[in-house]
Amino acid sequence: MIYPIVVYGSSVLRQVAKDIPADHPNLNALISDMFDTMYKSDGMGLAAPQIGKSLRLFVVDATSLADEDPSLADFKKAFINAKLTLLDEETMVMNEGCLSLPKIREDVERKNKVRITYYDENWNFHDEEYEGLKARVIQHEYDHLEGVLFIDRINVLRRKLLKGKLNDITKCQVDVPYKIKVIK
Ligand code: NI
Repeated sequence: MIYPIVVYGSSVLRQVAKDIPADHPNLNALISDMFDTMYKSDGMGLAAPQIGKSLRLFVVDATSLADEDPSLADFKKAFINAKLTLLDEETMVMNEGCLSLPKIREDVERKNKVRITYYDENWNFHDEEYEGLKARVIQHEYDHLEGVLFIDRINVLRRKLLKGKLNDITKCQVDVPYKIKVIK
């Protein structure tokens, strides 16, 4: 099942998402739907709040970039109840977009290295470190679980310049090749 993408202006994107209990019904179906929804909208990551569910779950798939960066060949994962720690002081600036902020791209500064603990779709526990693009995708998706969007991480002046575009998104007045909606 393909979900519409919940966009900027929706309260669910600003909530702190809740942990998922191990007996959550149909979790595998939900994860599979999130992958399908992400592929349909051509995203590299998707967090549950972006389909209107305030749950601590996100999926990533950057394997399509493996030709340029072979380390991405296995970077297709579901992260359940993740806990993130930012490592070292080194930061990196990279241009980011978000399915919930269609047609907006901005440079965002983030840590280069992270440690993350999480459960996978089989409830196996993982404690891993990531750097570079993987660390970036993880930080972006993890932010969604905390009610944070990448535009919160750019400077105030840049954000002011986006006001008109953001306002249009809250009314779904933006031309995107996937279904979007606002949940008030
Ligand atoms: Ni996003």
